[in-house]
Amino acid sequence: MSNLKISDRFVKPFLPQNHLETELERAETARQTVLNRTGLGKEFLGWVTLPSQMNSEDLQTIRKAAETIQSHSQYLVVVGIGGSYLGARAVIEALTPEFSHPETQKKTVKILYAGHHLDADYHFRLLAFLENKEFSVNVISKSGTTTEPAIAFRLLLSLLERKYGKENIKNRVFATTDKSKGALKHLADEYGFPTFVIPDDVGGRYSVFTPVGLLPIAAAGFSINKLIDGAKQMESNLKSTSSKEGNLASLYAAMRNGLYGLGKTTEIFVSYQPTLNYLAEWWKQLFGESEGKNAKGIFPASVQFTTDLHSMGQYIQDGERKIMETVIKIETPKQDVYLTEKTDDNDGLNYLAGKKLSEVNQSAILGTLIAHKDGGVPCIEIILPTINEEVLGELMYFYEFACAISGYMLGVNPFDQPGVEDYKNNMFALLGKKGYEKRKEEILSHIGPT
Ligand code: PA5
Repeated sequence: MSNLKISDRFVKPFLPQNHLETELERAETARQTVLNRTGLGKEFLGWVTLPSQMNSEDLQTIRKAAETIQSHSQYLVVVGIGGSYLGARAVIEALTPEFSHPETQKKTVKILYAGHHLDADYHFRLLAFLENKEFSVNVISKSGTTTEPAIAFRLLLSLLERKYGKENIKNRVFATTDKSKGALKHLADEYGFPTFVIPDDVGGRYSVFTPVGLLPIAAAGFSINKLIDGAKQMESNLKSTSSKEGNLASLYAAMRNGLYGLGKTTEIFVSYQPTLNYLAEWWKQLFGESEGKNAKGIFPASVQFTTDLHSMGQYIQDGERKIMETVIKIETPKQDVYLTEKTDDNDGLNYLAGKKLSEVNQSAILGTLIAHKDGGVPCIEIILPTINEEVLGELMYFYEFACAISGYMLGVNPFDQPGVEDYKNNMFALLGKKGYEKRKEEILSHIGPT
């Protein structure tokens, strides 16, 4: 049994049943391609069995490292970019309340992020902030050579060495990287930092169920066992249920590909909880980097409602009709608030007296779904009972599997990202990296003065 349900009631008016059935047949072929490992990028399918093959000793080692961090640090700085930080951040932010009552507040490490951009002000402020704080660093890079995290790590390492002394930081730096290759692995070995391995056959954006995601999540105080249990449950469902029998990943992939064929070239991830904003960022990377190639692919975008109904709502309702939506609907909030009666009713809200805020939110969701359907926007609903580690494990594994199916349906390799190299090479050329001299001349000759 899965906690996750999908409803197609706001898709049906756009995608006739026979069209969906054809797409489901294509999805089944793609699903078999994933399971039999016969498609493009088949050497990067290690993520498929990560949850079921996770052993308790590996989880224990990660938990132990997390406990070490918790024992001496107020802050853990997660250094990574793209797939090397978004999965962890998605889970941590989804589970971390914006405010917590002092009595219920768990004493855990607060997670900070670095190396996910090159903003000088941000990194200056981070270093200044950490100057008088107890902190550790988890530096994450599969290649071990990505510029943004490498720069951030150099800055943080130098602060750590100055603060604690080179000999005393072996239990403050944890490197998650390739088992043998890359500058990061060599540096970690030289310093004697504990290292965690990203398997060769797992790409960055599919790595949340490896130490890439698990160590920061455990350090933040969340249960990685429950997260893996949820993912394992979903792995078993998606492997054993055929597309015809209601495979959830196939259904989602079939609907979005069917709608793409009808000209819906943008998919908007919609949530009604601000804590899910980083889940949206993770989802955008997963689908954008997996599908956007060979001049094809659905453009992944995101909004957070009802906030963005007051900024993007007009466009979605009434702008270019190239949009589909996928709405994340949470059935029960963890906590609720009641609206009470006010004697003078001078704010005109007494008609809501006795209602819970979650009921108001559910009405906003349904009202928006109907309005957008009427405005020509098909909406896939993903329904979850609540947000916890287990449900997030199920949801994230579901998305990974659906992305692989969807990429194969589109006819692309869902596991490479050749387009990401272009900006890097230009940046290296402009910064004067050895070997890029000719490229610098070439690229600058094509642009005019500012
Ligand atoms: O999904 C991917 O492969 C990318 O987003 C990478 O995770 C990102 O570019 C960071 O790469 P690395 O982990 O090698 O530093």
